Amino acid sequence: MRCMSADKRTLARRFARGMATYDGAAVVQREMAERLVAELLSAPGAGRFDRVLELGCGTGLLTQRLLARCRPARLVLNDLVMECEGTARRMRRQAPGVPVQFVHGDMETVAFPHPQDLIASSAVLQWAADSRALLTRMAGLLEPGGLLAIASFGPSNLREVSQLTGVSLRYWSCGEWQAALAEHHVVLSGREELRTLWFPSARDVLRHLKQTGANALDSGPWPPARVAWFCRTYEATFGQDGRVPLTYHPVFMVARKRSDGGSRR
Ligand SMILES: C[S@@+](CC[C@H](N)C(=O)[O-])C[C@H]1O[C@@H](n2cnc3c(N)ncnc32)[C@H](O)[C@@H]1O
Repeated sequence: MRCMSADKRTLARRFARGMATYDGAAVVQREMAERLVAELLSAPGAGRFDRVLELGCGTGLLTQRLLARCRPARLVLNDLVMECEGTARRMRRQAPGVPVQFVHGDMETVAFPHPQDLIASSAVLQWAADSRALLTRMAGLLEPGGLLAIASFGPSNLREVSQLTGVSLRYWSCGEWQAALAEHHVVLSGREELRTLWFPSARDVLRHLKQTGANALDSGPWPPARVAWFCRTYEATFGQDGRVPLTYHPVFMVARKRSDGGSRR
């Protein structure tokens, strides 16, 4: 298996194109946003957060839930895609008393206001080129005692597609997340699950990947012969009773920045 990171320009283009269809197709991502907020609110001492930063807000599946259930006093939303500023505008209408700022750019390099009391992100961090450096960066933005709530994907994510194409993102396991987070944080919870979606055909799987932006590892469209080969092989390899599976592997982590504020080393 070849582990790749995505070209950020391709990523931004694919997500911008998928925005109109994302909410309808992103069944698992919606469940992840819901579950992440539940995990966050069950952390000891979690309740209201004054200053909240969300990385990769997209169309706002997590944002809406953060606004409704964590009642931030102010919210900073970030995304690589400029069009996500529309999400910030919608959220200002949803919660007129809450200042909502949009920071356009790459979460790995763009400047964010700080300190923050909560940094949250769902279905985004798997796209980071250097997750470890990003976690260190997030620790630098958090107030000591502040919380980090992350939903991302584990190594079995989209395993049917990686098995046929031979390429995958470098997904971290729950244990790898915990070890990396422990550098600057106390890990409060770490959970993972497998979730299978079923489709009538492999073409529907491809359409679903496009609508959710999950096809952003490919730099361009596949030639028709490759699409035909992929669909034939996918259905022959994974088909059951006239339908095909697609596996998701969500991982949920909640961690508190150590109150000494720094690294263990
Ligand atoms: C699968 S969507 C998830 C959106 C939203 N968080 C949700 O739960 O539905 C991934 C989002 O992350 C954004 N993204 C990916 N890489 C990013 C980066 N390096 N910096 C900021 N945003 C990024 C994409 O543009 C996209 O909007």
